[in-house]
Amino acid sequence: MHFRSSYWGLMAIVGLHVHAGVTVYNQIPFGQGTKTASAISSNFTPNAVGDTKQLTAPDLPSPLPPTQFTLQLGASNATQNGLSMPIPGTFYGFSVEMSVANQILGKNSSLLQVPFLNLMSLLTSRGGGVHIRVGGNTQETATMVGSLPNGTILQKAEVNTQITTQTPALLISPEMMFMMNNISTLVPGVKWYLGVPMNDTKNLRLQIAEVGETILGDNLMGLQVGNEPDLYGRHTFGGRSPDYSPQDYFNEFGMEMAGINADALIPVKNNIVGPSTTGDEWSPEVIFATGYLDAYASNLGFISVEKYPDDNCAAIFGGASAPKDAQTEFPKYLTHTAGASIISGFLNASKTAQSIGKPMLMFETNTASCGGFPGLSDSFGSALWGLDYGLTMAASNFSGALLHVSGGSVYYNPFTPPPTNQSAFHQWTVSPLFYATLIVAELLGPTNTAQVADLGANGADDNTPAYAIYENGAPVRVALFNYLTDPSGKAAYTASIKVDASVTQVKVKYLSAPSVAEKYNISWAGQNFGAPYGADGRLQGNLSVQTIACASGVCPVPVPAPGFALVSLTDNAYSEVNPDSVSTFSTTTSKTRGYNTATINPSVLATSNGHGGAGGKIMSGSTSKESVNGAAAVGAPWLSVVVAVALGVAVVGRRAFA
Ligand SMILES: *[C@@H]1O[C@H](CO)[C@@H](O)[C@H](O)[C@H]1NC(C)=O
Ligand SMILES: *[C@@H]1O[C@H](CO)[C@@H](O)[C@H](O)[C@H]1NC(C)=O
Ligand SMILES: *[C@@H]1O[C@H](CO)[C@@H](O)[C@H](O)[C@H]1NC(C)=O
Ligand SMILES: *[C@@H]1O[C@H](CO)[C@@H](O)[C@H](O)[C@H]1NC(C)=O
Ligand SMILES: *[C@@H]1O[C@H](CO)[C@@H](O)[C@H](O)[C@H]1NC(C)=O
Ligand SMILES: *[C@@H]1O[C@H](CO)[C@@H](O)[C@H](O)[C@H]1NC(C)=O
Ligand SMILES: *[C@@H]1O[C@H](CO)[C@@H](O)[C@H](O)[C@H]1NC(C)=O
Ligand SMILES: *[C@@H]1O[C@H](CO)[C@@H](O)[C@H](O)[C@H]1NC(C)=O
Ligand SMILES: *[C@@H]1O[C@H](CO)[C@@H](O)[C@H](O)[C@H]1NC(C)=O
Ligand SMILES: *[C@@H]1O[C@H](CO)[C@@H](O)[C@H](O)[C@H]1NC(C)=O
Repeated sequence: MHFRSSYWGLMAIVGLHVHAGVTVYNQIPFGQGTKTASAISSNFTPNAVGDTKQLTAPDLPSPLPPTQFTLQLGASNATQNGLSMPIPGTFYGFSVEMSVANQILGKNSSLLQVPFLNLMSLLTSRGGGVHIRVGGNTQETATMVGSLPNGTILQKAEVNTQITTQTPALLISPEMMFMMNNISTLVPGVKWYLGVPMNDTKNLRLQIAEVGETILGDNLMGLQVGNEPDLYGRHTFGGRSPDYSPQDYFNEFGMEMAGINADALIPVKNNIVGPSTTGDEWSPEVIFATGYLDAYASNLGFISVEKYPDDNCAAIFGGASAPKDAQTEFPKYLTHTAGASIISGFLNASKTAQSIGKPMLMFETNTASCGGFPGLSDSFGSALWGLDYGLTMAASNFSGALLHVSGGSVYYNPFTPPPTNQSAFHQWTVSPLFYATLIVAELLGPTNTAQVADLGANGADDNTPAYAIYENGAPVRVALFNYLTDPSGKAAYTASIKVDASVTQVKVKYLSAPSVAEKYNISWAGQNFGAPYGADGRLQGNLSVQTIACASGVCPVPVPAPGFALVSLTDNAYSEVNPDSVSTFSTTTSKTRGYNTATINPSVLATSNGHGGAGGKIMSGSTSKESVNGAAAVGAPWLSVVVAVALGVAVVGRRAFA
């Protein structure tokens, strides 16, 4: 069955009305994991991408850690200590604030963001898929309507910025789900979590779940019910009292589950994501003590928590708490202990989740809430932090973690579209943090057998951590970190990796920059995504991979200060996550509709282009501007899916409508 033909039937079944003539716009600039938003102070910077402020790398420790050490790897997963359970290559995904989905993903099902498709394609080509949540604080007051004017996917209602805890009410249309499904069609492996509102359990609004399941079918991973419920009382959110308790939450969650279980339009009942606690007010154990896991066992598909290690709320919103200084915070991120301390309160819950066979997810996280810190959240150091934090979670049996993405005014975005009024001449900005997601996908690969061990490298020195990754029981890759910045080169180290004597050489890809404070001159094995506003989502530049010879099974791998090295121990370990070709989407400028649209060449979809997406010769239209070898193309981020359909790329539904 074709989706469109059944659209009106769906609307009739779900009982939605067409919403017309809404004139409500008020962009909340910081729609992320804090609810402490109040009036925005006058000194906030609306354009994080344009902020060139760089911090200073922390001083070197004295004495320096040893610069030569050995890493002995067990010959198989039977002899290596500390290995996790199998972790999927989809580990790192994204949490897209529902209210900015129209900036990040696309305008609607017929206008998708090309750079976004390219970035997701890079990840799926390495890790086998990407999981993306559309939700956040704004899911709680979202309401699904039958349609919005001009094929729009969402509209924000008027917000009174003087009311400190008011979250913008959001109207969304089924077009949002059509758009998400089209993204999954174009980039297979992209799957979704959707947020279902829980602000009002007396009047359940389950239409997002109904329409989401109907349209997305197998592309829907799960439905999150309740976002950071341990903060509901603190913010008296949804009219709840300040002493809102875990038992109150248990009861309300039960009302949501009862509604879902009774709803024939929600055929999948066992994909619920909860409890999504921050641990600030209630640990997972406090919630589990209510009987939550048993009572909702048939509904819960995933056990979730959400955590930011820090916040920059005072700088952005003013208010009671003391402002924090990014330079002072910076060193806290540049140490192996950073990740472990974020999840320390969730390790027991991770064991519990494993024992009941449900994946443990860090459902929303990033460097710091309230937009992150200037110079920190967008530094090379944030890439090292994200890599180390991700691997710490994986080694601790978390199956996934979603980095939050918000609007253009935040510093922590892994990628950011240009402001709407600049999309004709600016492209996207890919931030250092995106490399963490790319590299974790390369480390874990597509086999779903990856097991991760923290090697306690160099006497467990916090400046020089290392991990081993095993696949199908055998060691395949090693991750080496150096958090120190030392232009003199004295803090560079060499790790001697001891493996089977049959290994005669290893391939090494470096993530490099001159300093942990660097924001722009960052290279992943010779490639990058271009300057701010210069990314179309494909890697630019020539790939540069080092081959290092091993002697008697000892492979000496140098790591600069700062730096990160991904060591592939076998040819297959390298080739399975470094595909010769990646499906890419290209942009052409055609002003037919008053804005730039993009077209895709059918051969691009059918086959793919050049190595790692760089230097590909994929373009169709003569007006296209390729981004080849660092020369960033300008313009045209939108992909017109209409064109794809005209070329025969239309999809049919996976699931008949009930
Ligand atoms: C819909 O599009 C038309 C034509 O571009 C425009 O005049 C109208 O204002 C739009 N309506 C809304 C609600 O955006
Ligand atoms: C998507 O939005 C564009 C521009 O607002 C509009 O012309 C188009 O009809 C919309 N597509 C759908 C499927 O509604
Ligand atoms: C995109 O979504 C529309 C529904 O809005 C559907 O008709 C079309 O076939 C989809 N195109 C692709 C390429 O999935
Ligand atoms: C929940 O959100 C909806 C949509 O914004 C709103 O109409 C309703 O009043 C809210 N309910 C409560 C209890 O706050
Ligand atoms: C670990 O979790 C289990 C199950 O929820 C609980 O019984 C136990 O008390 C927890 N241990 C700690 C130290 O929190
Ligand atoms: C992760 O799971 C594996 C396999 O069950 C177990 O051996 C290991 O101790 C767990 N690690 C942590 C940190 O809980
Ligand atoms: C885009 O809009 C912003 C905010 O309204 C304005 O300050 C800026 O000058 C505009 N830029 C362009 C290129 O139109
Ligand atoms: C070792 O890896 C194999 C293949 O992935 C797996 O079946 C087995 O359970 C693993 N054993 C341990 C002890 O992790
Ligand atoms: C960029 O960083 C590299 C080290 O990662 C350094 O060798 C190179 O000189 C830097 N380039 C510029 C233009 O600063
Ligand atoms: C990439 O390699 C090609 C061919 O060797 C060369 O012409 C080009 O200048 C290189 N590009 C960069 C950015 O180094």
